Amino acid sequence: MKFTRCFLMLVGLFFVSCTSIETFPPYQKHRKRTEFITTGSKGMISTSHRLASKAGLDMLKMGGNAADAAAAVSFMISVVRPQSTGIGGGGFMLYFDKGTKSTSVYDFRERAPFKASRDMYIDKQGKPIDFIYKGHRIPNASVNGHLAVGTPGLVAGVIEAHSKHGKLSLAKVIQPAIDTARNGFKVYIRLAEAIKRKQQVLNKFEASKKIFMPNGRPLKVGDTLVQKDLAWTLEQTKKHGRDGFYKGKVAKKIVAEMKRGKRLIRKNDLIAYNVKTHKPVVGTYRGHKVISMPPPSSGGIHIVQILNILEGYDIKGMGHNTTKSAHIITEAMRRAFADRAKYLGDPAFTKVPQKGLLSKQYANKLRSTINPKKVASSKEVGAGTPAAYESPSTTHFSIVDKWGNAVSSTQTINYTFGSGVVAAGTGVVLNDEMDDFSKKPGVPNVFGLVGSEANSIAARKTMLSSMSPSLVFDKNNQLLLVVGSPGGPTIITATLQTILNTIDHRMPLADAVHAYRIHHQWLPDQLFYEQNGLEYNTILDLQKMGHKLTPKDAMGSVQAIRRVGKKWVGVSDTRREGYPLGY
Ligand code: GLY
Repeated sequence: MKFTRCFLMLVGLFFVSCTSIETFPPYQKHRKRTEFITTGSKGMISTSHRLASKAGLDMLKMGGNAADAAAAVSFMISVVRPQSTGIGGGGFMLYFDKGTKSTSVYDFRERAPFKASRDMYIDKQGKPIDFIYKGHRIPNASVNGHLAVGTPGLVAGVIEAHSKHGKLSLAKVIQPAIDTARNGFKVYIRLAEAIKRKQQVLNKFEASKKIFMPNGRPLKVGDTLVQKDLAWTLEQTKKHGRDGFYKGKVAKKIVAEMKRGKRLIRKNDLIAYNVKTHKPVVGTYRGHKVISMPPPSSGGIHIVQILNILEGYDIKGMGHNTTKSAHIITEAMRRAFADRAKYLGDPAFTKVPQKGLLSKQYANKLRSTINPKKVASSKEVGAGTPAAYESPSTTHFSIVDKWGNAVSSTQTINYTFGSGVVAAGTGVVLNDEMDDFSKKPGVPNVFGLVGSEANSIAARKTMLSSMSPSLVFDKNNQLLLVVGSPGGPTIITATLQTILNTIDHRMPLADAVHAYRIHHQWLPDQLFYEQNGLEYNTILDLQKMGHKLTPKDAMGSVQAIRRVGKKWVGVSDTRREGYPLGY
């Protein structure tokens, strides 16, 4: 009898622990469940690399808080994901202080250099220009080469957030990154693929080639990537704080590099770099509070705007990825992205109608334009021009500490390996964030996003972003979810769908993160869906309604934490790498 009960309990446990896996898309199916989902009662960290999660967890175990862990993760992830992010880039961070119940917002996005100007990437015929370097023509000057680089903000931002909220010294939180840069780490599949994909550009710049293509060939899986120059740069930062990067020897080398490629960033750009703080975007969805990133990101506004529209529908009743729900969610996304193209830009330069975009009344108005049976064409919703999209770069991490403080941060150098330029002697991969500006109204960027005058280029202006570090609080105002994603415009829709899956479909976190996604960004006029993510009949029904469907391999890669009772559950999306660690 005892044995039978035991046996049944074991069988039960087996099914409970396996059920959600069966609904997962087959990304990295070979990975053990414990490698992408974990629980902890004190602290939790979900990042896109095991070494970054470990660096953060070590800080928590040393008595540090979420801000200490965030600084350690930021520096470490810069070392181990040079294709996605780094100290040559920028990002956004939300810091939730449990004691004061307030959320601080840090904007350390790149800024357009003083020498930047409105039409700098357009020739006399109005066509996008290439970058000419040492006689080589490198395609697309806003994406590849020195002209694509915005003034980096990551070091300033991470140090500022850490000095305001952290408990440990800068020396402590930066050391793991210095050690890993100096001693090296094993190249993993995505990194090897990224080097291979970008090799034509990396090859043109000696310092980039030396690090990522030593002996003239791209590093392969299992090779060790050593970044001694980057270790030196991080040492300078450890010794001199922010000045160690923006002034002195490192700054000199960055300026010398920029001089080799048309002198876009100069000494005064680095000295003048300023971190900005903003009030977060705050919205509500079915009694939950959603806190997210305000402009210069479009993420927070449009996540809340879409949620406001969807609040008027019974999304749970419609079911996940059914014809009805996919249609309604798509139509809501399309309207939000049309507004993005028209209204969003750096609030210091352009008046963003934030209050109006976030209002429930406006959402009611937009909802009333949605026909439940038929698609509105993107022309009816707005106007623009289509193009290519999706990037494997950018990274997000989520952290909670034992006091209940939390960090949600998305960081990037933009496209794969940013500009492809490493500032010689520093190991710093320089971003290509200038491409996130609207080069010319109606001309799409590398993500196919179009913009208007609101996001045009100007000296010292911040380029528009989709990065959406977010926090969700339950009906009792307790932190429920820390969430965000990389993936260009799919950042917004991947973060949104994780929230919908949690609140509407009541999925456990691993399912909420892994459930198949859809994406529509107004232009191109395509409803993207993850391969196998929609039933065949649903695809046919949506086509009949007028949707133009395109399958994609995977969209976004969420790193999330959820509170379940007194525990934290951490999940890393298996669409890409990631590893949650808790204790
Ligand atoms: N670089 C991608 C973004 O900020 O949206």
